[in-house]
Amino acid sequence: MTFLLGFEITAHTFGVGIVKNGKILANLRSAYTTEKGGIIPMDAVAHHKKKKYSTYEEALKKANIKEKDIDAIAFSQGPGLAPCLLVGMKFTQEIAEKLKVPIVPVNHCIAHLEIGRITGAKDPVMLYASGANTQIIAYASGKFRIFGETLDVGVGNFIDNFARNAGVGFPGGPKVQEMAEKGKTLVEIPYRIKGMDVAFSGILTNLRQKIQSKKYNLNDLAYSLQEVVFAMLVEISERALAHTGKKELLLGGRVGCNKRLQEMCSIMCKERKAKFFCPPNDLLTDNGSMIAYLGEILFKNGEFIFLKDIDKIDIAPRQRTDDVEIKYR
Ligand code: ATP
Ligand code: FE2
Repeated sequence: MTFLLGFEITAHTFGVGIVKNGKILANLRSAYTTEKGGIIPMDAVAHHKKKKYSTYEEALKKANIKEKDIDAIAFSQGPGLAPCLLVGMKFTQEIAEKLKVPIVPVNHCIAHLEIGRITGAKDPVMLYASGANTQIIAYASGKFRIFGETLDVGVGNFIDNFARNAGVGFPGGPKVQEMAEKGKTLVEIPYRIKGMDVAFSGILTNLRQKIQSKKYNLNDLAYSLQEVVFAMLVEISERALAHTGKKELLLGGRVGCNKRLQEMCSIMCKERKAKFFCPPNDLLTDNGSMIAYLGEILFKNGEFIFLKDIDKIDIAPRQRTDDVEIKYR
């Protein structure tokens, strides 16, 4: 019996997950939020430090286990904001020393993909769409490769920026979705795909000018934004499916909570006879369970760091998914 504890601390979220044999026993989180959305790293660090013990203890209670039941601790090693990653690493080392258990460093993006197994996705192309990230990731010859990505900002940050300009505040995603549902007319805005990559800053400039001109209905702009930008994401996802020959598409990241994006992915998959998988919202967004889940796979494959080597562990703020060698697949 193996109980895996997972800590997710790459940016705004302090997440704790507990997993046993691929089953999630607890998925707790405390998120640092700001009115305007931008993260002030030192404030996020203060939040995580304040919440670490209580969130951890709550997770143990939720899973109905004791500290001595834990066999190993996984933590998000990167990519992410260095000050936040450091809180996570130090807390992991502290608890590992206390419990005398090994540590499993985990890549945040790969964890988003592997938690898809819970929904039945075995070898998917993942559309990872969050605030800071927009990437198409899939496994090929020993590594998770990035088949396409944003050339500038993440799609969530782009939507938030539009929302700020439209005067609807932060976080923009859910508000823009509501506005889009009321939109009726498709307004022409740029469609920006370059090879397998996408870019949002030109579209943002265009939308900003349209808002400032006051000639457009904001709901129509939100509707057009979603239709055009999600079509771009679906197009590069479809191309990755065609290129890799894979038959599964998985959503990851909090922008994946968007109902219209889910619908567009699902239609595309139906048309090309692929399966579409969408985890529940609390697994789409950053969470400790995905870290514990991938941690368990790695741990069972012997990929962990013994307690005696604890000082050799480091964070990896800029770790790319294709830097990581995959031995368990
Ligand atoms: P990551 O480290 O995974 O990149 P992050 O902080 O960048 O994390 P997430 O927490 O995964 O991002 O996602 C937050 C983003 O999701 C915000 O930009 C928010 O506007 C967006 N979002 C939330 N709900 C929706 C929705 N329903 N539709 C579109 N976007 C959404
Ligand atoms: Fe994430």
